[in-house]
Amino acid sequence: MSAKTIAIACDHGGIEMKDLLVKDLTASGWSVLDLGTDGPDSVDYPDFALKMAEALKDGRVQRGVLLCGTGIGISIAANRFAHVRAALVHDAFGARMCRGHNDANVLVMGGRTTGPEVARDCLKIFLETEFEGGRHARRVAKLS
Ligand code: RB5
Repeated sequence: MSAKTIAIACDHGGIEMKDLLVKDLTASGWSVLDLGTDGPDSVDYPDFALKMAEALKDGRVQRGVLLCGTGIGISIAANRFAHVRAALVHDAFGARMCRGHNDANVLVMGGRTTGPEVARDCLKIFLETEFEGGRHARRVAKLS
């Protein structure tokens, strides 16, 4: 898949936010690998963090978005995989810093804690911000 492909996954707590963000991504030219969940039925967030980790590992995507009710559970689950740097973000500053300083490859948000316009803004910033490298590269290297 092309570098302009992004994966997105959520549990039932993030389903509305997923639908909203998929529309934005598609409208801005991204090809979206939607890993589910696809409906309101209760599911387990670690299963969707695993799907994301697999998509990053096998090279289908270089970036992803994960959503659950708070963003907490799915970020804990995603960060159990060494190649995943999942950042739980609540505002524009966090979205910028997680790329610039942490080279986050997965943006995480809470569908029940973050409003739709803030979420859209965070996603845009996450996608547009480059990793700054330098001293931050040394620190990120120490994560693995
Ligand atoms: C599901 O009810 C909820 O626990 C989940 O979406 C998430 O918030 C967990 O961290």
